[in-house]
Amino acid sequence: MIATKRLSAFAIRTFTLSAVAGWVVLSPLAAQSGRMAAPSRGGMVVSSHYLASEAGDEILRKGGNAVDAAVATAFALAVTLPSAGNVGGGGFLVYHGADGEVTTFNFREKAAIAATERMYLDESGEVRDNSNRIGLLAIGVPGTVAGMWKAHQRLGRLPWEDLLEPAIRLAADGMPSTWAMQNWLRSLPGRVGPLYDATREVFLKNGVGMYEPGEIFRQPDLAETLRRIQRDGHDGFYRGETAKLLADFMAAHGGLITEEDMARYEADELVPIHGTYRGYDIYSMPPPSSGGVGLVEMLNILEGYDLVEIGHNSALYLHLLTESMRRSYADRALHLGDPKFNQDMPIDRLTSKAYADRLRATIDVQSASRSDSAAFNGAFLNQSEETTHYSVVDADGNTVSVTYTLEFGYGSSIVVPGAGFLLNNELGDFNAVPGRTTSRGTIGTPPNLVASEKRPLSSMTPTIVARDGRPVLAIGSPGGRTIINTTLQVVLNVIDHGMTGSQFGRAIESPRIHHQWLPDRTSFEEWGFSPDTRRLYEGMGHRISTRGGQGSAMGIYIDWDTGLRWGAADSRAFDGGARGN
Ligand code: GLY
Repeated sequence: MIATKRLSAFAIRTFTLSAVAGWVVLSPLAAQSGRMAAPSRGGMVVSSHYLASEAGDEILRKGGNAVDAAVATAFALAVTLPSAGNVGGGGFLVYHGADGEVTTFNFREKAAIAATERMYLDESGEVRDNSNRIGLLAIGVPGTVAGMWKAHQRLGRLPWEDLLEPAIRLAADGMPSTWAMQNWLRSLPGRVGPLYDATREVFLKNGVGMYEPGEIFRQPDLAETLRRIQRDGHDGFYRGETAKLLADFMAAHGGLITEEDMARYEADELVPIHGTYRGYDIYSMPPPSSGGVGLVEMLNILEGYDLVEIGHNSALYLHLLTESMRRSYADRALHLGDPKFNQDMPIDRLTSKAYADRLRATIDVQSASRSDSAAFNGAFLNQSEETTHYSVVDADGNTVSVTYTLEFGYGSSIVVPGAGFLLNNELGDFNAVPGRTTSRGTIGTPPNLVASEKRPLSSMTPTIVARDGRPVLAIGSPGGRTIINTTLQVVLNVIDHGMTGSQFGRAIESPRIHHQWLPDRTSFEEWGFSPDTRRLYEGMGHRISTRGGQGSAMGIYIDWDTGLRWGAADSRAFDGGARGN
C-alpha cells in the first residue's frame, strides 16, 4: 500500500517540463522518480531517504543555504534512516561556496580518554569476544552533533532551532516504516541482554512485534534528545541530560565513555585534500579519512591514460582501474591515520603528480601485478559497508557533500536508554592487534592503532569537483573500503565519459568494481559486466569475486551553462530520493 502512496506522491510532485520560447521551464517542485536524474533550478538535496531529502528541501525553501539544509538533512536521517543516519556516530562534511571558499569539517568519533592500545586483547594477545566490534568498548564518542554545530556556526544562515524542526516532527509524529528497515528488525528479537533493552523498546512494536512496512513508527525519546539539541545546540548533546544518560549507561555496564569525554568532544575544521584531474579541481576529505588521499592518488595515476579511447568498463579500463586501486590502497594502509597522532604522513607525496607518474610506470598494461610482491608489504583493513552519503546544493550554488556513519548497520545496535538514539561501533575501524598483519584481514600497522582520544581511520570520501572556481559535482557513497572506489568511478563517469545533465543518473547507476590491494581479488557487481569482459580481464591475471551491489552514491551535477542542478539517488538505496525546488 505504501508503495502505491509513495508513487502517487512522486507523480504529483515530479517536475514538469515545457518548452517556452525555446527554453525549458521547470515547475517549482523537482523530485526523482526511478533512475532518471531530477533537474531543478534552485536547490537540491539527494539522500538515502526521501523524507530526509524533503527535510533538507524544506529548509532550502525557507531561505536556508546549503549548510542549513545539510544540517537539517543529517538530523532527519538520524530519524528516518536509523541504520546509518545518526546523532550517535560521526563523519565528514566538505563545503564549496559559490564564492570559491572550500573547507571541510571532521566529526569522526573519538576513542574515550580511558582507551588503550591493547584494550581489546586477552592475555594471549587475541581480540577478546569480538570486543572491538560488538559491545560497549567498540563505541566511540559521537561526533555528528558537534560537526553539524560547527559547520552551522561557521557557514549557516537560518537560526539553528529551525534546522531541527523537520527531524523533531518526524520523530515525534512518526514516519512510515519501510521494507529496508524491516529487514534489519527481523534480527532484533535475537539481541538479548540489558545492553539491547532500549533498542527493542524503540524499534519493535510495543517492544516485541514487527512494524509492517508503511506502519507509522514514532521515536519519542529521540524527539526529546533532538529538542535538547535544538534548544542548547552543541551543549544540548555533550552536556546535561543526554551526556549524563549516556555516561550513566556506560558506567553501569562497563563502558568507557564518561561525561568528561562528552564535554571534551569538539569537531575540527580542516583544510581539504586538493587535487586536479583533466582541468577539474577535486576537493575531498583529509585524514582521519583516507578518502581524499586515495581518490586523488588514483585519479593522478589514471590521468596518464586516454580512458575514453580505452572505453568505459572495457577489460583494459577495468585493469587500469584495478592497478590504480591496488597501489592507492597499499599506501592507505601503510601511511594513514589520525593526523593528531601521525604528524609525518606523506600526504603531499601521495597526492603529487610526480608520485603518480612513478606508480604508473610500474603498471603493465597487459597483465596484473601481485599485491603480495615485494613492492607491497603491508596490510589491509576491515570496515563495515553501512554508512550513508548525501549531497546538497542551494540556489546560489553553495554545495555540501556529507558522509556519516554508525559503522555497522544500526551501529552497535545499542540505544541509550531514555535518549532514544543508537550508538556507533566505529572503534572497529582501528587496528586492534598491534604488530599483527595477515593476508586474512588482520592489520597491525602503527598509524591506526588505538589510543586515548584518537580517531580511527575512515574510508569516507565526501567529494566536491569544481571547474573555474565553481562546484560542478557533489558526490560520495557508503560502502566501507569500497567508498573510495565507488566515488572514483562516478567521478570518471562524469569527467571522462560525459554522463552529465539528463544522463547523470547513468554515472550513479553504472556497474562498479572494487579492489583494495589485499585480498588480491576484484569484486564485480553481479549485473552489468558481460562474460566476455570478465574473461578478458581474468586473462590478464586478475581474480574476480561477485557481489550484489557496491555502495549507493548520492550525487548532484551542476550545469552552469543551463543553470540546472541534476540530482540522482542511487537505486541501490531502497528508500533514497532527490528533492529540489
Ligand atoms: N566505518 C566506515 C568508514 O569510516 O569508512
